[in-house]
Amino acid sequence: MLARLLACFPKEIVIARLPDFYPLLRPLLHSLDPEQAHEWALRALERGWVPAQPVLPDPILATSFLGWRLAHPLGLAAGFDKNGRVASRMFAQGFSFIEVGGVTPLPQAGNARPRVFRLPEQRAVINRMGFPNDGASVVAARLAAAPPGGMLGINLASNAASIEPIRDFLALLETFSPLGDFLTLDISCPNTANGQVFLEPARLSELLASLNAVPLGANRPALVAKISPDLDDGRLAELVAVLLEGQIAAICVGNTTTARPTGLGKHAEQKGGLSGRPLFSASTRQLAVVRRLVGTRVPLIGTGGIASGADAYAKICAGASVLQLYTAMIYEGPGLVGRVLGELAELLRRDGFTTLSQAVGSAVDVSADPDRT
Ligand SMILES: Cc1cc2nc3c(=O)[nH]c(=O)nc-3n(C[C@H](O)[C@H](O)[C@H](O)COP(=O)(O)O)c2cc1C
Repeated sequence: MLARLLACFPKEIVIARLPDFYPLLRPLLHSLDPEQAHEWALRALERGWVPAQPVLPDPILATSFLGWRLAHPLGLAAGFDKNGRVASRMFAQGFSFIEVGGVTPLPQAGNARPRVFRLPEQRAVINRMGFPNDGASVVAARLAAAPPGGMLGINLASNAASIEPIRDFLALLETFSPLGDFLTLDISCPNTANGQVFLEPARLSELLASLNAVPLGANRPALVAKISPDLDDGRLAELVAVLLEGQIAAICVGNTTTARPTGLGKHAEQKGGLSGRPLFSASTRQLAVVRRLVGTRVPLIGTGGIASGADAYAKICAGASVLQLYTAMIYEGPGLVGRVLGELAELLRRDGFTTLSQAVGSAVDVSADPDRT
């Protein structure tokens, strides 16, 4: 009915927006400890108390990613739904794909609290959660019992105390292969002992060879690698070469940063990964570097500091085929999804694009790449 009503409008009228109640709720949520507020948000979503956002995207935003046709390129980043409790609810909030996790083979409590800090003036967060999660069996059972009904990624990590992180990833691959459309190898978490061991090219190569050797047949999901914004360009080039050699299906650029740009104010000294607005420039710059390195051989997920259509557009032009966000939603609520998409569609049209894919990488010269199509 709503779809039929909207079809009467010119196609540039793209997003049906409900009144946005989040600005009224935010002072209450932000008066709580960030993790407590997050738990309240998850419970409200689980109980169906958060109204669905009918996002009807402009056709210009339609795209494809790892074999899926998506109505638009904006997905939910890992970390919001660590235990796969609300994936289907987040599709109803307008995201076109959802990444749950990070999930480790065994349940773990994560680091001591407090471990998440809001930096409201910067629209940023610092977290050192260290993968608190219910463990692979519980999360897998939950996802199997109620498949979320859209493109699902699962973010995988080894247990902090594990002495064999490759074996952890092998176990996770086996558990989640039947459930995920893509599995993200989180090799860039700054917050646990094993979080970054695979940023060493030789170890990454070993990990990919081990995963590729598992005989999964038709169940083999696409493997995505999530990299760190803190790599220098030399190390980045080495790792990207290993990822291409290891037949990775896509690269997510990327995780939170341990860098501390000046002017962060309160909490800047907290240990952990910084996300949100102060991450935007560095992660977008890295995206363009990775696009130059991979050309069109593998698609990129642009993640880091997206809070507007202009941010989304910059990531697309820097080489992202699809996008993810998390931190901006803490400040703006889920109504942000519709706003970002509406603005992105306008920017594409302004610059004469007729499809999203025409804009992907348009700000990056990849003419040196032999595989460019
Ligand atoms: C509280 C919190 C928890 C996160 N947990 C994970 C995680 O478990 N695995 C992961 O790969 N990334 C995790 N991330 C990183 C996000 O997925 C994303 O890469 C990063 O926050 C940058 O995007 P943003 O600026 O839109 O938040 C987490 C981020 C936050 C803020």
